[in-house]
Amino acid sequence: MAQPFLLHIALLSTLCFADDPSVFYDFKLSYITVSPLGVPQRVIAVNGAFPGSVVNATTNYNVVVNVHNQLDENLLMTWSSNAEKLVAGRCSRASGGFGPIVINNRAIIDIPFARPDGDIVFLVGDWYTKNHTVKLRMPDGVFINGKEPYRYNSTLVPDGNEYETINVGPGKTYRFRVHNVGISTSLNFRIEGHNLVLEGTEGRYMMQQNFTSFDIHVGEVIFVFSYHGSECNKNYYIAASARFVNELMWERVTGVAVLHYSNSKGPATGPLPAASSDVYSQWSSMNQPRAIRQNTTASRARPNPQGSFHYGSINVTETLVIRSLPPIRINGKLRAALNGISFVKPDTPIRLADLHNVKGAYKLDFPNKTNERTPKMDRSIINATYRGFIEVILQNNDTKIQSFHLDGYSFFVVGMDFGEWTQNRRSNYNKWDSISRCTTEVYPGGWTAVFVSLDNVGVRNLRVENLDRWYQGQETYMRIINPEENGKTEMAPPDNVQYCGALQSLQKESASSAAMALHCDNSKLLINLVRTILPFIYSFR
Ligand SMILES: *[C@@H]1O[C@H](CO)[C@@H](O)[C@H](O)[C@H]1NC(C)=O
Ligand SMILES: *[C@@H]1O[C@H](CO)[C@@H](O)[C@H](O)[C@H]1NC(C)=O
Ligand SMILES: *[C@@H]1O[C@H](CO)[C@@H](O)[C@H](O)[C@H]1NC(C)=O
Ligand SMILES: *[C@@H]1O[C@H](CO)[C@@H](O)[C@H](O)[C@H]1NC(C)=O
Ligand SMILES: *[C@@H]1O[C@H](CO)[C@@H](O)[C@H](O)[C@H]1NC(C)=O
Ligand SMILES: *[C@@H]1O[C@H](CO)[C@@H](O)[C@H](O)[C@H]1NC(C)=O
Ligand SMILES: *[C@@H]1O[C@H](CO)[C@@H](O)[C@H](O)[C@H]1NC(C)=O
Ligand SMILES: *[C@@H]1O[C@H](CO)[C@@H](O)[C@H](O)[C@H]1NC(C)=O
Ligand SMILES: *[C@@H]1O[C@H](CO)[C@@H](O)[C@H](O)[C@H]1NC(C)=O
Repeated sequence: MAQPFLLHIALLSTLCFADDPSVFYDFKLSYITVSPLGVPQRVIAVNGAFPGSVVNATTNYNVVVNVHNQLDENLLMTWSSNAEKLVAGRCSRASGGFGPIVINNRAIIDIPFARPDGDIVFLVGDWYTKNHTVKLRMPDGVFINGKEPYRYNSTLVPDGNEYETINVGPGKTYRFRVHNVGISTSLNFRIEGHNLVLEGTEGRYMMQQNFTSFDIHVGEVIFVFSYHGSECNKNYYIAASARFVNELMWERVTGVAVLHYSNSKGPATGPLPAASSDVYSQWSSMNQPRAIRQNTTASRARPNPQGSFHYGSINVTETLVIRSLPPIRINGKLRAALNGISFVKPDTPIRLADLHNVKGAYKLDFPNKTNERTPKMDRSIINATYRGFIEVILQNNDTKIQSFHLDGYSFFVVGMDFGEWTQNRRSNYNKWDSISRCTTEVYPGGWTAVFVSLDNVGVRNLRVENLDRWYQGQETYMRIINPEENGKTEMAPPDNVQYCGALQSLQKESASSAAMALHCDNSKLLINLVRTILPFIYSFR
């Protein structure tokens, strides 16, 4: 299972924990041309492949990745607990640059099910065949592992598509790791004729439950087992279709792959499996995420597992209410805000500004609960207290479902409902077995409450994963600094740190290595300083 991970800024020698094995990867980022929806497009490839290479490691491993930027643009590399993603320049995520991270259990840790016969990774997402500006249209389709839909209907899908085929054997059990790596669209995932047993999400085993389809929002990961009732000897459809949309208009926007049994006697035929199931009504819409429960007896032996402590009995030190509103125009530009702040990237990297006493690079005045409807553009970030245990209420007053993500942390999703959050909603929080993850959905007209233990120092991006809203300004940072910093909880920047903004003059001539061709661009680089500096190192805990 994937664990939340700590990023260390350090030289290798200070970082690798002697007893833990290390794995090494080289990522060469380049442009290639592919046609995920039949239209040739330039995408970002990792080692020549789209989607990118798998990072395959085991809990506690040290993973060392050398990133060689052979693109002609700047990039930010983010590591969600389960997928790597590159964001190069503005909106380039539309053009790829992502790949999966698979984190296996250590052999000594029991898993709450029989070991599967195989692991299958699905990267699904909405796709746009044309350049888009900050305001998104309807996507042109949904890809599955970078490929076009299978021709399940000759009217809707053109001939000659290159589609994904998943080869399986009869009577076996497979674990599917499904990642929504898309831009903005929530998807419903299902396999014809198969029960899916929900097993886990980013980092946690869940109480297993059967269902026929499930929703997966932008930036989220879900692990499922597939089961089938009768003997399988044909091919089956795998479908990923847009959720919460007008079905008819969106009919073309459906990803379709084929599950092929080795003893298959014929192709997949007929209509696609129906979207969201009413058979298991608890799984419809918000009932689905609310029914997700952590299996608290699974994986107990893990050392220092963030989450096995009784989060529900820890006193909350602070509450933050963060409201998102739909975009409005500011100076002719479409901007969206969190608590009235439409975020503007500082010119000088936040943590570098701290280290070099640059004043005014950012403001620590991010407001709490406000009904401000006229956003202003600003560099306000959250002054969070190291070792605090905070409650964050994400109130979605925007018009569409949003995925909120906090870098460097996983949080407990303790409550979710429609309407306005009030303090007495706390009595219904799940204080025992809620799932901890790094991304959560927040329904429009609703709220999601999360608990976060602020034990990972740094400046952490809190953002809406839906790319359009993110770029319109729905993001900020949490600055979590150990006041007694002694060089242990936070390490110094590496030698080849890139200086920008007010610190430009400190920039040393960098070595001519292609691996160093990362440019100073905006604050993304800075906060994610650790993430873009080479060698790129992180460690799972
Ligand atoms: C990861 O590596 C392990 C051990 O080398 C291997 O058994 C497994 O199939 C790999 N998984 C993936 C998804 O590549
Ligand atoms: C929870 O985990 C335990 C221990 O691994 C396992 O025996 C049990 O079947 C799991 N329960 C569910 C509902 O997944
Ligand atoms: C977007 O358009 C520009 C100019 O028309 C072009 O150079 C660029 O390659 C396009 N990007 C994508 C992702 O197609
Ligand atoms: C294909 O899709 C069209 C449009 O929804 C529908 O009218 C038609 O019945 C479908 N064809 C088949 C064979 O299902
Ligand atoms: C899920 O369904 C399968 C049969 O398809 C059954 O064997 C299994 O017990 C069910 N699991 C749960 C957790 O309900
Ligand atoms: C939590 O708060 C309660 C009430 O203020 C207090 O009695 C209790 O000691 C606190 N618990 C901890 C672990 O600090
Ligand atoms: C933020 O607002 C909420 C709701 O009014 C309040 O409960 C909380 O104490 C406030 N937090 C801070 C840090 O002022
Ligand atoms: C930030 O919070 C700390 C306490 O954690 C406080 O001492 C400091 O004054 C705050 N800074 C600002 C600018 O609000
Ligand atoms: C936004 O908030 C206002 C005022 O609380 C409420 O009337 C409206 O229904 C909300 N809209 C959404 C989409 O949540």
